[in-house]
Amino acid sequence: MTSRLVVLATGSGSNLQAILDACADGTLEAEVVLVVVNRRTAYAAERAAAAGVPSVYRPMGPFREAVPDDPRRARERYDAALAAEIADARPDLIVQAGWMHLFTSTFLDRFPGMVVNLHPALPGAFPGAHAIDDAWAAHETDGLDHTGVMVHLVPDEGVDDGPVLASQRVPIMVDDTRETLEARLHEVEHELFVATIGDYLRTR
Ligand code: GAR
Repeated sequence: MTSRLVVLATGSGSNLQAILDACADGTLEAEVVLVVVNRRTAYAAERAAAAGVPSVYRPMGPFREAVPDDPRRARERYDAALAAEIADARPDLIVQAGWMHLFTSTFLDRFPGMVVNLHPALPGAFPGAHAIDDAWAAHETDGLDHTGVMVHLVPDEGVDDGPVLASQRVPIMVDDTRETLEARLHEVEHELFVATIGDYLRTR
């Protein structure tokens, strides 16, 4: 049975592209039914359009402005609105592919076992939006010789934390620059993310 994916992205969307390509060539028995972006300039929306997949732009800004003195309430209201819209798309899996927004339990409790996240670091290392910068800084200051990539479930409000579905170590080479390391991490991500989504859809 073809699974229905909703993909959430904030930036370039190279991982969304890997998923779209895998759906198109049959590597993934799945269909991306909706892409959500939360940044107006997200190139991910153009990738969706090129693949004929609907996308919507859903920024947090208006929710923040509505309750400027209560950021938690703003996040919960945003999450409730987005959860309702995503539920309407009847997803089998919600895929955070470079999604720079932390869901509250208002969103997550509605989709148990259904939200997966990709993160460019090994479990427990470098959580947050700057994992590659953080690994590169640790390489430069302490000689860190590897980092990695992981795919995990998002059951609660932990940051880049949750039951690990897959992870892969990525060496930092002596002749690496920050850019060559990032490119190698993305290559690993594209393969690992697609393979892990496929395995999870088949076995859960
Ligand atoms: C990816 O490296 C992903 O692991 C990271 O954002 C990038 C998005 O790239 N996610 C996180 O840092 C989550 N904390 P893309 O837009 O080219 O897919």
